[in-house]
Amino acid sequence: MNKNFTPKIIYFMCNWCGTGGAESASAHHLYYPENVLPYRVNCTGSLSTVLILRAFIDGADGVIISGCHPGDCHYEDGNFRERKRVATIKSIIESLGLEEDRIWFRYVAHGEGKRFVDTTTEFNDYIKKIGPNPLKERSDT
Ligand code: FES
Repeated sequence: MNKNFTPKIIYFMCNWCGTGGAESASAHHLYYPENVLPYRVNCTGSLSTVLILRAFIDGADGVIISGCHPGDCHYEDGNFRERKRVATIKSIIESLGLEEDRIWFRYVAHGEGKRFVDTTTEFNDYIKKIGPNPLKERSDT
C-alpha cells in the first residue's frame, strides 16, 4: 500500500436513501474520508453508463454508487437497474485494464449513517491498496 496515495473517489448516491445515510452520519458526528466526493442523483437508476465511465476516464480511482434497499426505490426498480448496469460496467472497465472492483454498488438507507461511513472507509482502504487508476497513469505519460 502506498501511504502517499490519496485516491479520488466519486460517490453517487440517490436523493432518497444514500443521501440520507450521509446526512445521518453527519448528524451523529461520524466521519468519512475527505477524499470521497459525494454526488447526489435523484435515483441511481438515472445514472448513465457513460457518466460513470467518464468518471474513470477523467481520473477517478474508484466509484461507489448507493441506492435504496430492495423494495424502497422511489422509482420502482431504479436500484435494481443500476445494480445490473454496474455489473456491465465492471466488465467494460476490466477490458480497459482496470480492476472490476474499482466500482461498488451498495444499498444504504436513510438513517444508516454507520453503514455509509463503513462503506466509504472500506472502499477507500481497498482503493489505497490496489493503487491509482491505471488510465490516469497512462494519460500522464
Ligand atoms: S430512489 Fe433510491 S435508488 Fe431509486
